[in-house]
Amino acid sequence: MFRNQLNSTNLPKCRLFWQLCQATTNQIQTQTQTQTRQFRVAVIGAAGGIGQPLALLLMTNKLVTELALHDLEATKGFGKDLSHISTVCKVKPYFGEDGMKKAIKGSHIVMITAGMPRKPGQTRDFLFDTNGPIVARAACLVSHYAPKALVGIITNPVNAVVVVAAEAMKQAGSYDPKRLFGVTTLDVVRAEKFIGEHMDVHPYEIRIPVVGGHAGTTIVPIFSQCQPRFKGDKKCIASIVKRIQTGGDEVVRAKAGKGSATLSMAYAAARFTNALMRGLKGKSCAPECAYVESDVTDAPFFSTPLTFGRKGIKKNHGLPKMNESEKKQVKVAVEALKQSAAKGVEYMNKMRE
Ligand SMILES: NC(=O)c1ccc[n+]([C@@H]2O[C@H](COP(=O)([O-])OP(=O)(O)OC[C@H]3O[C@@H](n4cnc5c(N)ncnc54)[C@H](O)[C@@H]3O)[C@@H](O)[C@H]2O)c1
Repeated sequence: MFRNQLNSTNLPKCRLFWQLCQATTNQIQTQTQTQTRQFRVAVIGAAGGIGQPLALLLMTNKLVTELALHDLEATKGFGKDLSHISTVCKVKPYFGEDGMKKAIKGSHIVMITAGMPRKPGQTRDFLFDTNGPIVARAACLVSHYAPKALVGIITNPVNAVVVVAAEAMKQAGSYDPKRLFGVTTLDVVRAEKFIGEHMDVHPYEIRIPVVGGHAGTTIVPIFSQCQPRFKGDKKCIASIVKRIQTGGDEVVRAKAGKGSATLSMAYAAARFTNALMRGLKGKSCAPECAYVESDVTDAPFFSTPLTFGRKGIKKNHGLPKMNESEKKQVKVAVEALKQSAAKGVEYMNKMRE
């Protein structure tokens, strides 16, 4: 299935589009031609390590005409800085407890990156107690003030806090499983990069579905569906799989206590947001994997390739064809993801009591 999608004529256009979004010279022409209202995107946690470069990348995407930046910290300074970039996008800075609702209201897309990152030696799960309530509150405000918005959750642990967000939205009275996404694009971006380096192929030309979740062995890259066909033996695949699964740890260690992946994550989140906006506009785009409510496996939330449309998920492509080793890895991931989902539900049930 994934291979067929790769062969579709839409893919080069979509990839090219993404590259063009980053090219400011071409953009000047297209932006002056396109003064019509497009999308308001809110970034929650905008002053952080991911939030700031994400805001910068969104600022240079012609589909974003309004950027709402919220953080507990002041966003006025870097918002003003961004607002001098010569694109048509307007910047609206908000901060503090009350500012979040104002940032969310009227947004077509809400990207949540608020919360603590890991320190060396910490697992993503360690962050649950701190980040769970932050995501729950943001999700609740989306439910009230922008119930039709598409919501991308970057905050860790993604495997559990996306479930917290879903439960919070249900409790708040408005939840649409087609509009809530755990952002796992960084795992795909890492897979493209590491495989590209190994095969000496430009990463833009690599396509590989990465299914499951976003932590350790729940991250399952499906090498048997890699395009172009992966060249390497089982040992080589195992070592690249391991590197994709532990890519986050590699960055956390290198930053030595000063945070986790921020720039690569901002790139990944900007690419994901672009795919959501293409869907909202009814334009074609290559499928992107994301962690969503799903009946593809026994895990209630699971990441598989998705096509986006005007109402969020247009099509869940399900699990790609897999070899025996990949099927085993998915089985392991499903068990772990069932536990993460249960943790999210249990937390929100306790909150309700
Ligand atoms: N999904 C992924 O692939 C992925 C990759 C890397 C990092 N992450 C996660 O993203 C999150 C953010 O990472 P970072 O490096 O940007 O951290 P950071 O500490 O640099 O930034 C987080 C920002 O969130 C803000 N914040 C905290 N509580 C808030 C609240 N209640 N409302 C609004 N803003 C609030 C902080 O003030 C800060 O500016 C972390 O949880 C990290 O683990 C996810």
